Amino acid sequence: MHNKLANGHLPGKPYMAGLVVPVRELHAGHREEILRHLLLLNEEDRRLRFGTQTPDEVIEHYVERLDFNKDAVFGSFDSQLHLVGMAHLAYLPKVEGQSQAAEFGVSVLPNGRGQGIGTALLARAAVHSRNTRIETLFVHCLANNKAMMHLAQKAGMRVEYAYGDADAYLKLPPANPATIVEEAANKQWADFDYALKENLKRSNEAWWWFLGRPTNAS
Ligand SMILES: CC(C)(COP(=O)(O)OP(=O)(O)OC[C@H]1O[C@@H](n2cnc3c(N)ncnc32)[C@H](O)[C@@H]1OP(=O)(O)O)[C@@H](O)C(=O)NCCC(=O)NCCS
Repeated sequence: MHNKLANGHLPGKPYMAGLVVPVRELHAGHREEILRHLLLLNEEDRRLRFGTQTPDEVIEHYVERLDFNKDAVFGSFDSQLHLVGMAHLAYLPKVEGQSQAAEFGVSVLPNGRGQGIGTALLARAAVHSRNTRIETLFVHCLANNKAMMHLAQKAGMRVEYAYGDADAYLKLPPANPATIVEEAANKQWADFDYALKENLKRSNEAWWWFLGRPTNAS
């Protein structure tokens, strides 16, 4: 089966290994930053992300209702510790006779796109899914969402189209020691990256306090 994320094939681009782009698991303390991220998406990106027109109030409600105990939320931070990319892995209710599934939704701010962040979030969600006994990873998106379709197909997902919508499925093999180690390594790397950015940000702020913040030449 052609299933790159599931079988851990080495990708052609180094960032696709999910090692270069650090991805952190988020918690309830990140709610404000998640809201900020989603509100920065323009009308078209919101339509692509949620499948419909999504005003601010709907996003606020969505963020308020995120259940971090039930679902998993992942993020990629920039040097200012703003969320440049985030993914929501929603565990779907168990249906008798069907495999346990989770739905993946993702967004990356325009200035962060094309740098492997979406790919890294999908890779992290896939390995987390395997480690939490998810057998099918599911993405629902508009069929004209070329970037998401490309990401899904690159990950070896099977795509089915109907009425302008596309459903992509990735059948996941069970977890094994390698997937447990991979997730632990990803977590450590992302924590290290975050701590580094936090220290840099603090020391920059200290210098700015001391020397005065640089102003942009007009
Ligand atoms: C889809 C999205 C998450 C991708 O994020 P990203 O960080 O740019 O993703 P990556 O950089 O990892 O990869 C993007 C890939 O799509 C490709 N791509 C981008 N636009 C494309 C297009 N119009 N047609 C085909 N491929 C496209 C890029 O070339 C890249 O492929 P490559 O890695 O083989 O070179 C981002 O575009 C986004 O947030 N879109 C709005 C919300 C959305 O559509 N969410 C998905 C629905 S849940």
